[in-house]
Amino acid sequence: MKIIVCENYEEISQEAAKLVADLMTAKPDCVLGLATGSTPVGMYKKLVEMNKKGEISFEKVTSYNLDEYYPIEPTHDQSYRYFMNQNLFDHVNIDKSKTFVPNGLTKDPAKEGAAYDAAIDAAGGIDLQILGIGQNGHIGFNEPDDALIAGTHITSLTENTIEANSRFFASKADVPTQAFTMGMGSIMKAKKIVLLANGTNKHAAVAQMLDDKITTSCPATFLKLHKDVILICDKAALNG
Ligand code: GLP
Repeated sequence: MKIIVCENYEEISQEAAKLVADLMTAKPDCVLGLATGSTPVGMYKKLVEMNKKGEISFEKVTSYNLDEYYPIEPTHDQSYRYFMNQNLFDHVNIDKSKTFVPNGLTKDPAKEGAAYDAAIDAAGGIDLQILGIGQNGHIGFNEPDDALIAGTHITSLTENTIEANSRFFASKADVPTQAFTMGMGSIMKAKKIVLLANGTNKHAAVAQMLDDKITTSCPATFLKLHKDVILICDKAALNG
């Protein structure tokens, strides 16, 4: 795993945006794997600025998001579809019909999960997958567990994740207890992965990801099996 250590959040956002922009320049019809959470917000701001200046175009880009709460309406202000519209899609020249987020209202998760993975494969696979990391080492909503699921699926959120994400909701009771997420197998199929981590609250997860063990109790450790992963982080996330 290649590591880029940054001075601050601004620099993490800049480095990440540059990697995305370079890919978009080299391959205008690239397939992006996108993430939500607070960490990539700065990167999205930079990408919006670059698009407004005419430095990059989203015209031919297709995107697949990692995850979505379940159940949740796409118009709910805490849905990941809403987040993506607010932070990126509404501000750039992307064709929204080519932006995909797992359906937080699906009645048939098994069928929709398989269809989501098949659609990614049919699009040629994800060229660049952006990831954040949970404080408990989760990736997307692949939570620590005895076993991980390879494909896109519905999962239950851990208490730790519900607590961590309650800051975005009116109360902890409002946080959905389930989510639809790309599986670790879906994520590992991406050609390149860029993981962003910022702050001391991510240090334990980052440290476990970088040690020598691979374990389902820290899903991020599986990323060590991928041959093109870049961790972009600050010193606090890396060193504590
Ligand atoms: C959320 C998301 C993840 C994200 C992580 C970290 O629950 N499902 O995709 O990477 O938690 O979020 P944040 O960047 O806000 O710390």
